[in-house]
Amino acid sequence: MKFPEKGKGRHEIMETLKRYRAGDADWRSGRIFAYTFHAGQDAEEIAKEAYMEFIHENALDPTSFPSLVRLEREVMRMIAGLLRGDKQVVGNFTSGGTESIMLAVKSARDRARVEKPHIKEPEIVFSRTAHCAFHKAAHYLGLKTVITDFIPETFLTDVDSMRDAITENTILLVGSAPSYAQGVVDPIREIAELALEKDLMFHVDACMGGIMLSVMRDMPDFDIPDFDFSVPGVTSISADMHKFGYALKNASTVLYRNKDIRKHQIFAETSATSYALVNPTLLSSKSGGPMAGAWAMLKYFGREGYEKLFGEVMEGTKKLIDGINATGDLHVLGNPQMCIFSFASDTINVFQLADVMAKRGWYLQPQFSTDKSPLNLHITMNYSSVSEVDEFLAELPEGIKEVKESKEPLDINKIRQQVQMMMESFGDDAIEHLTAMAGISNDELPQEMALISCILDSLPNEVSKELLVEYINDLFT
Ligand SMILES: Cc1ncc(COP(=O)(O)O)c(C=O)c1O
Repeated sequence: MKFPEKGKGRHEIMETLKRYRAGDADWRSGRIFAYTFHAGQDAEEIAKEAYMEFIHENALDPTSFPSLVRLEREVMRMIAGLLRGDKQVVGNFTSGGTESIMLAVKSARDRARVEKPHIKEPEIVFSRTAHCAFHKAAHYLGLKTVITDFIPETFLTDVDSMRDAITENTILLVGSAPSYAQGVVDPIREIAELALEKDLMFHVDACMGGIMLSVMRDMPDFDIPDFDFSVPGVTSISADMHKFGYALKNASTVLYRNKDIRKHQIFAETSATSYALVNPTLLSSKSGGPMAGAWAMLKYFGREGYEKLFGEVMEGTKKLIDGINATGDLHVLGNPQMCIFSFASDTINVFQLADVMAKRGWYLQPQFSTDKSPLNLHITMNYSSVSEVDEFLAELPEGIKEVKESKEPLDINKIRQQVQMMMESFGDDAIEHLTAMAGISNDELPQEMALISCILDSLPNEVSKELLVEYINDLFT
């Protein structure tokens, strides 16, 4: 598309934009078990109104927009309270879980530079169940990742393995509350004790659970393990608002036990010919919209509103888990404590099931196998999905039957052998051949994902990463 010579009218612009959306996931339908969070029409409208009200205000300069300082302080006090932090606990509003995690990792790195200057090659230690954002943070910040075992039956971080992985270069341990993939809450107390014993920072990734688990803790039906600032040894926590705070994107929070730790997050520079720059977070110019939208959701729901919402979501989740386990072909992995979980199968290829269900309008997210766990599909249950549970469970056996009767069943073991052979035969050119085998083209986004996911699952990490980078590099042209 060329740069337009002449401007267009409002109507045409908006119509074109709406048309572009035709192939998108219908996120209000409740059939999309990932990516989006919808708490109903009222919440959506209030969040949008608050968001739009502050969309132009710029958090770059707190002195010009004191309203944003106030909003950020208030959001932080509300979230710190939920996470049982005392007055010393401080934090900032960020664009998402990834930014919150990157900032927590940066704070740990920069604090170690001051307090442990003998460490020249800092390491962060976490289980394979932690979110990829920690790999990304380490990649961006020049840190070494040390990946530890998880317990195969429970998907919990194996704390003994974590202990063994700690070296004199370790600066930070990580736990999840809960992990995205299987929705289980790590043994935060045990990891915190280890962190204290070894004098290490300890970040709890509560991007998914920060708000929801905190509210559920005080509800009678749930037994939520401690994962927050009530646990000595926890030094920072990330808690997203654009997930189970039901705020609009981009909205997350990162909190620290005290200002002495948080100060390592902040960047300032005064040597340029321009204005004095001081940024607590990654973004410099930063719209006030997401913050006002998130603040509005906390005020709109309050504890009572969230309890009602989460109660219904958990009821739906239980029904969904029981229904999936009752199919006889599928089983839920681990012991999920919130409303996110995954399931696997001994009888069918679940990646094919995801494709079959996608044709019926359901989105289930493929997740890869490891040497300790099978291929599986992820479900994030949100409020708009509660009303769809019965229909999903009614359609699921039909989907399973369709996969079983498929004329082209995908046998993951055969695909692994084929991929291995191609790697050996084609060496450096293997990626090109694998891309062709998967039917990936840059002209159109793939309609079916099962074969692509199986191939990615079969490749060594370094190769699948390269394939994905090449694909995305070619996609955005
Ligand atoms: C546990 C966990 N941490 C971090 C993230 C990253 O969050 P974001 O996508 O908002 O950057 C996610 C995203 O799903 C997550 O589930």
